[in-house]
Amino acid sequence: MGSVVFENLTDEARSRLPRYPMPVLHVGQLAADSSLQGRGIGSLLLKCAAERAIEASETVGCFAIEPIADSDQAFDWYLGRGFSSLNPGSMRLYQGIETLKATVEKA
Ligand SMILES: CC(C)(COP(=O)(O)OP(=O)(O)OC[C@H]1O[C@@H](n2cnc3c(N)ncnc32)[C@H](O)[C@@H]1OP(=O)(O)O)[C@@H](O)C(=O)NCCC(=O)NCCS
Repeated sequence: MGSVVFENLTDEARSRLPRYPMPVLHVGQLAADSSLQGRGIGSLLLKCAAERAIEASETVGCFAIEPIADSDQAFDWYLGRGFSSLNPGSMRLYQGIETLKATVEKA
């Protein structure tokens, strides 16, 4: 667990958040073996992370999932899965808990 790093946010993103640290679930080193990519494994792992974040939101509080993409390819993959950046210069992406709940319910 961590929290949104306020110093790096745009004014527009700041204006949409409360003034206290918002807890987030970090997702690190999510990967599928190169021989098995494109078969839905990454999406399944992301769904698993979403379920854990939802669980955490009901106990200790969790505002969003926050992957830190380590390549442009990974960044674009998260964008394609509905994540967005709160700072154009950052590799941190976010998806809010309410959106995650709707996505998990649909899957
Ligand atoms: C990123 C990664 C985890 C995705 O896992 P995966 O199992 O290949 O992904 P999935 O099969 O679940 O998803 C494939 C979908 O993503 C899309 N996609 C793949 N690469 C993409 C990219 N660069 N930009 C946008 N969409 C992309 C595919 O078109 C496909 O779309 P569809 O579901 O509509 O058919 C995997 O490619 C990987 O391990 N990459 C190397 C490690 C890495 O970058 N990890 C992230 C660290 S932060």
